[in-house]
Amino acid sequence: MANKAQNGSKLIYYPSEDVIKNAHVQEYDQLYAQSIQDREKFWAEQAENIDWFKPYDKVLDDSAKPFYKWFTGGKINIVHNAIDRHLTTGKRNQLAMIWEGEPGDVRTLSYHALNREVCKFANVLKSMGVKKGDIVTIYMPQILELPIAMLACVKIGAAHSVVYGGFSSDALINRIEDAKSKLIITADGGYRRGKTTQLKEIVNEAIRQCPTIEVCLCVKRTGEEVYMENGRDYWLHDLINLPNASPKCETVEMDSEDSLFILYTSGTTGKPKGVVHTHGGYTVYTSTTHRMVFDVKDYDRWWCAADPGWITGHSYIVYAPLINGSTIMLYEGAPNHPYPNRWWQMVEKYGITILYTSPTAIRGLMRYGETWPQRHDISSLRLLGSVGEPINPEAWRWYHEVIGNGKCPIMDTWWQTETGGFMITPLPITTLKPGSATKPFFGNEMAVVDKEGNAVGPGEEGRLVIKAPWPGMARTILKDPDRYVETYWKEYEKQGWYNAGDSARIDEDGDFWIIGRIDDVIKVSGYRLGTAEIESALVSHADVSEAAAIALPHDLKGNAIYTYAILRQGCEGSRELEKEIKEHVAKEIGPIAKPEKVTFTDSLPKTRSGKIMRRVLKARALGLDEGDLSTLEE
Ligand code: PRX
Repeated sequence: MANKAQNGSKLIYYPSEDVIKNAHVQEYDQLYAQSIQDREKFWAEQAENIDWFKPYDKVLDDSAKPFYKWFTGGKINIVHNAIDRHLTTGKRNQLAMIWEGEPGDVRTLSYHALNREVCKFANVLKSMGVKKGDIVTIYMPQILELPIAMLACVKIGAAHSVVYGGFSSDALINRIEDAKSKLIITADGGYRRGKTTQLKEIVNEAIRQCPTIEVCLCVKRTGEEVYMENGRDYWLHDLINLPNASPKCETVEMDSEDSLFILYTSGTTGKPKGVVHTHGGYTVYTSTTHRMVFDVKDYDRWWCAADPGWITGHSYIVYAPLINGSTIMLYEGAPNHPYPNRWWQMVEKYGITILYTSPTAIRGLMRYGETWPQRHDISSLRLLGSVGEPINPEAWRWYHEVIGNGKCPIMDTWWQTETGGFMITPLPITTLKPGSATKPFFGNEMAVVDKEGNAVGPGEEGRLVIKAPWPGMARTILKDPDRYVETYWKEYEKQGWYNAGDSARIDEDGDFWIIGRIDDVIKVSGYRLGTAEIESALVSHADVSEAAAIALPHDLKGNAIYTYAILRQGCEGSRELEKEIKEHVAKEIGPIAKPEKVTFTDSLPKTRSGKIMRRVLKARALGLDEGDLSTLEE
């Protein structure tokens, strides 16, 4: 990335010859054209990098659109590809994971040791009655037992449903109830900004309302006193040292289309959607995108600084890097604890070569200035990545110049929980423009269209659609296939396109620029929340009768949540009440959902059919034109 050029007001970064010479993929246009011409051939070639217990019969089965199936007839297990197959090669003794706790404790696992831990954990799960087809809920801090637990479930044929450790007990209850989990895995707590989080307490509260839970496995992390119910709650360290938790455990053969995991994400209604991913397509898709986009090499130390509890963590902390035999870095705590050099200190200490994070994290660290990273030798970095929200050019340049020393290309990857892996992304050889995710990945046909499905002109804003299936796509929404069709496939039913819910532009060079969500989803610090979830948390406060939530731009978080509340008769708006309502929302959903502001109002702009016009609220808050008000109720 040595060369930059000015094109009008836009900066363009060209890859250096060094980067091009060493990249796995040295050319995009031709390979992309071929991958579109014969998509199945492209994916069949990629599937050769994967071990199948039994070869698949068909690459793509599109007989029941939009319920596409991939690699049908194949027998596979992602854990066999992520761990078992490395044990017979030189990888066996290579580091699979380096983990650092916030207090500074360090643990490392070779592939051999990871296998042992996963086998022992899997045998504990078996002894507790977990079977193929079960869904195990996992609610944990960022400790090594989190990926180990995920892999252990999948090894024996169960699917996991990981609930982000920052969510409240109510969010946990909803997800356990939907998945009907019998077993939950948690920890006493974890460390965050020098304090401990009380996870087990939240789990205890949740289990009280979740009759399906029979067993709770608890990992000891903080050592703080927690309530353990006799006959229901077990310490992992007690069970894992029993003779039946042997270090050997068979990896169960799964069908390509068997469920691998459920991951809940926000949508337009209050009820989170259980997005379902399956073994075959996800294994091929995530490992291919990771290998090609981040150009992974044997010597790389890969750090995806997300929480394993989100899709980024599932695909690119746990599964893809292990399949590709990388050494993975995991860190438990906050980037600025105890000082804002914490990340850079770890990059130096462990010789991290690739860092993949979110614009929010970059902006957060940028505000402390460049002297913090400059205290450390971070020259081991050779590639950088960004995900979760559009990256503003200022943050891009800081990341590129201060962290990447002007030499590391930035892979701005656009994708979603539902897509499983990167959809629009540069490759190391791509010409980059700060703020653009550039071009579709191989095999992906994407477009920006109007409401009717006509392509909009260069530079014009429209809706982002995916025109053809890809192996990493979500297969359905758990127990709600109609909602799957309705949410993603209804809008462009005639054309058979997937509606991403984002607005975007394509410039004259064919580069994609993502603008943001057009549906009722809010991205706060890269986290995805639904306005409906926030509104229902607001009205669950005793004084609130009606509420609306919108997103407004925020320097650090990308977006912040602004809310409007109509109070019940007899209630008075006050600063104290505002504070109380904010805390209430944080308690109902989790601290990430805490509103920036609660405005008390007597009325909300609504359509005649009673739908809140959030667009009008937003325009008013920003002092912009309110647009077409013909449907506004008098
Ligand atoms: O709006 C887009 C934004 O994140 C949404 C997906 O959120 P989630 O399912 O939580 O997955 C996040 C991690 C993959 C998208 O609809 N988004 C994701 N990546 C980018 C992005 N917006 C702009 N640029 C990106 N690179």
